[in-house]
Amino acid sequence: MKILVVGGGGREHALVWKLAQSPLADEIYCAPGNAGIAGLAECVNIAADDVDTLLEFAQAENIGLTVVGPEAPLAAGIVDKFTAAGLKIFGPSQKAAMIEGSKALAKEIMEKYGIPTAKYAAFDDKEAALAYLDTNPAPIVVKADGLAAGKGVVVAMTDAEAREAVESMLSGNAFGAAGARVVIEEYLAGEEVSVLAFSDGQTVLPMVSAQDHKRVFDGDQGPNTGGMGAYSPAPIYTPEIAEQVLQQVLQPAVDGMRREGRTYKGVLYAGLMLTDAGVKVLEFNARFGDPETQAVLARLQSDLVEIMLAVIDGRLNEYTLEWSPDAAICVVLASGGYPGSYAKGQPIKGLSAAAEQPDTVVFHAGTKFIGQQVVSDGGRVLGVTACAPTIQGAIDKAYAAVDLISWQDCFCRRDIGAKALKYKV
Ligand code: AMP
Ligand code: GLY
Repeated sequence: MKILVVGGGGREHALVWKLAQSPLADEIYCAPGNAGIAGLAECVNIAADDVDTLLEFAQAENIGLTVVGPEAPLAAGIVDKFTAAGLKIFGPSQKAAMIEGSKALAKEIMEKYGIPTAKYAAFDDKEAALAYLDTNPAPIVVKADGLAAGKGVVVAMTDAEAREAVESMLSGNAFGAAGARVVIEEYLAGEEVSVLAFSDGQTVLPMVSAQDHKRVFDGDQGPNTGGMGAYSPAPIYTPEIAEQVLQQVLQPAVDGMRREGRTYKGVLYAGLMLTDAGVKVLEFNARFGDPETQAVLARLQSDLVEIMLAVIDGRLNEYTLEWSPDAAICVVLASGGYPGSYAKGQPIKGLSAAAEQPDTVVFHAGTKFIGQQVVSDGGRVLGVTACAPTIQGAIDKAYAAVDLISWQDCFCRRDIGAKALKYKV
């Protein structure tokens, strides 16, 4: 079967890597892909959100399975268009992807179906939102309703910050239409865990847990990023909590979406906060997480092509997922200056030496070729991923490979996975 993966980041490299292990995969294409993906798939120069051109390509090449990485093409209705054209595509429809595309909708669904989440109110009127802040002091969280490339959340530790966030979002200055409505919600303290689950609209198969590292510097300092690393499993996420999340979060979300006429097929990503008062949902995403996917798929032993076809065909009840008991760590190597401005086009040294390290895969996120040379082409450039029986072992292996790689002004966090070590695993 010919497979097309849509996207060109670290998550998509991990997807291509895992899909390529399936005996069902003959040729793999990736649009637009990157220099690392090019070793496993044919990269096609079509942007991930150029849905019409992607459809033409898939029809012309007789693609048997298309897998969508990022949220933008999902929100643009890529799944609906491919399905209408009779093509198999993995991901939620436009209506189902709204669980990520509208935070207010996600909150309504959670409230209606009894899914634990922070107390909230949604506003499109600035005065009403500011009045709400008068009676709900900081710490409090202000979220742009729509897609804002992961930047639409302000965790306000002071009233002034909260008011400023409301002012700038509802006056249209921040995030445009995505900020025309805001959700204001209760601040939750605790440890965050990401859980991804396959859903065919009825059956839910949760994957192993993971933890992202959103802040740019060690010790969770500095501004938020797209994710500086991840590890799996999150030891705080015990089997008891996992069962509770399946029964109280994932299954009710999938059942609720079906009842709302938004049947959810694909990967449902639950961002969870483990609070003293139990598990609460911070957000749902309609796709695989990045960089969680790099750590999670490194542990998947089942055939990903088979699972994805079962999701599309509504046969997920026939499957279980097999996992390696090993832990996995993904350390992101980034360009100096990220998440602010940074240089591109820097030659990267040490990639082959790193790739030869045992139990290690170097996933590319922002790279391209100039001639034969791989150069940096983004803020997050590589996700060095390693597996070992313990988290400490995986950390040691991943950083041994990281230390072989360099380019001008590259940096990484040195404490990926450290939070897990207090659980003595
Ligand atoms: P989201 O895009 O909803 O995941 O939010 C981005 C980040 O903001 C989350 O990963 C959390 O670190 C933080 N966050 C979101 N909602 C809350 C909340 N209610 N309380 C505390 N932190 C939050
Ligand atoms: N790692 C966070 C996300 O993919 O949204």
